[in-house]
This record gives sequence, C-alpha cells and structure tokens, in this order.
Amino acid sequence: MKKVISLLVFVLLLSGVFAVAVSAADDLIVVGYSQVGAESDWRTANTESFKSTFTEENGYKLIFDDAMQKPENQIKAIRNFIQQEVDYIVLAPIVETGWETVLGEAKAAGIPVILSDRMIKVTDDSLYVAWVGGNFIKEGHNAIEWLDNYLKENGRDNEDINIVLLQGTIGSSAQIGRTQGVEELLADRPKYHLLAKQTGEFTQAKGQEVMESFLKSYPDIDVVIAENDDMGYGAMEAIRAAGKVPGKDIIMISYDAGRRAFEAILKGDLNATIECNPLHGPRVAEIIQKLEKGEPVEKIQYVDEGVFDIKNAAEVLPTRAY
Ligand code: AHR
Repeated sequence: MKKVISLLVFVLLLSGVFAVAVSAADDLIVVGYSQVGAESDWRTANTESFKSTFTEENGYKLIFDDAMQKPENQIKAIRNFIQQEVDYIVLAPIVETGWETVLGEAKAAGIPVILSDRMIKVTDDSLYVAWVGGNFIKEGHNAIEWLDNYLKENGRDNEDINIVLLQGTIGSSAQIGRTQGVEELLADRPKYHLLAKQTGEFTQAKGQEVMESFLKSYPDIDVVIAENDDMGYGAMEAIRAAGKVPGKDIIMISYDAGRRAFEAILKGDLNATIECNPLHGPRVAEIIQKLEKGEPVEKIQYVDEGVFDIKNAAEVLPTRAY
C-alpha cells in the first residue's frame, strides 16, 4: 500500500512540474524569422543579434529559417510560420518584389509581419506593421560624398576618375538603393566615369571573380565601390593578383563597416567603409513589445549610420560589436 501511495505522489508531482513547464512555454512569444542567408559578415552578425535577443530567458521562442539567398525558400518559410501559428513573423526580404500573396496569407491568419533590414515593394502597406533598417539611398550618396572629399584632400579633384561598381544581389533593396544613390550623385559629376557595374551577389568569392574580369576589361580603374565589405575583400584579392595595391593604386570603398573592414582600413587596404548596421534584434524586440502592449509603432524606422576611414577607424574599432 505504502508503495502505491508513494508512486501516486511521484506521478502527481511529475504532472505538476510538467504543467508548470507547459504553461511557461505557453507564455513565450513565438517569433518566426526568415533570414536571407549567410552570405556576409554582416548577415552573420544580424543572425547572432536575433538569436541572442529572442531567447527563452527574454520571453521568446525563436523559429529561425535560413533561406540560403533563395526568395522561394522565404515564401515556404513564411507559410510554415503561418501553419505553426507563430505570434509574429519577421522577414528580411532577399528581394523587393513578389510578396503580396504570401504576406496576404499572413494577414488573413492575423499574424503581424515586421520587416527588418531590406524593404519590399507592395501596393498595400498594411501587409506589414513596421520596417527597421538602413537608408540605402543615403548610403549610396555617402560613398560619393566621401570620394569627393578624399580626392579634394589629395589634390585630385580636377582629375577624371574611373569607377567600377560591384553590386549586391540584384533586386534587393540594399543593391537598388546603393546603386541609385551612387548613380544620382555621379550624374552631377561629369569627371567621374562609371566604367561598369555588375553583381558580386554580396559574397567575397563572387566579388573577386567579377573584379578579375573588370581588371581585364579596364586597365585604368581608379575607384572600386563594393556594395558590401565582403565583395570588397574579394576585389582586394583580385587587385593584388593583378600586381596592383588595393587602397593605393585603386581607391577602395565598401559598405557595412564590420570589424574586418576597420582592420583593412588600418592596414591601408581599404579607404572607406559606409556603415550599414546589422544589430536589428533589439530593435525588432522593441517593436514587438510595443505591439504586445497595444501601443502604436512607427511604421518606418531608419537606423543612424556613419562613414569610417583612416581618420576615425582606430578610435572606433575597439568598440565595434561586429
Ligand atoms: O541588406 C544588407 C546587406 O546584406 C549588407 O550590406 C550585406 O553585407 C548583406 O548581405
């Protein structure tokens, strides 16, 4: 009899523990994050920012999906999130177009969608509740304005300058905005000549490959603008292999401003990096917390971003989180 009673007590205790665990899990806010891929240092830092923010200790369950740079994988991921009845969907869209149908499905299921990093092009902006990211057109302007100052300071502002542009993933708002920003300012500067532009898909390997072909076609390149740091590192390899010195024979400008870029500036391989901040996890969490409390959120939230070169790199590098 004694044995039966202890067994009963044990079972009751166990089910109590189980019930507490279930109710704790029920309290978590479930967030599905559809990430672009793992193509760059920036992307790795962005993933880390989400994983370290959306933890159980912070009250979340994160369902993370890596789309491996394929928009169709993002559509599948969003449909899976809807099936799993997540509380929020966070989307870092690979490209701007093609979102109406699937985001309409999320809306019909009553799941708020928050866009992070890149933008989408939709006629109905009620398909997302908020967007947080960088101002890509301004980033494009920043590169040319930095170049103006650099050439002036080096007594080269009356020279004709040949530029090549390594673009990001075609159709992504980071590529569209940066290219547009660069080209807008080039239109006012007849001494700057854009010799060629081509995608390096935001990867170091592809950046190197495209730069090799640019160097073969154009022996007189003065400036490389790489739409992210990783393609810039690839371009540096190609330039060295062609017997030239990046940062000296060819002015190098890239985007993102990760730690490696600061190190390259201090080594003299890179002349400037235009910031694009990847630490969106806490920013998205703030939006979710407001929505949870029924508070209004700002629909479009730009992040402040800087420009770094040899004048400020040494000071900023020790504080750089990514
Ligand atoms: O959308 C932001 C861009 O995507 C970053 O510049 C790039 O490194 C990343 O892959």
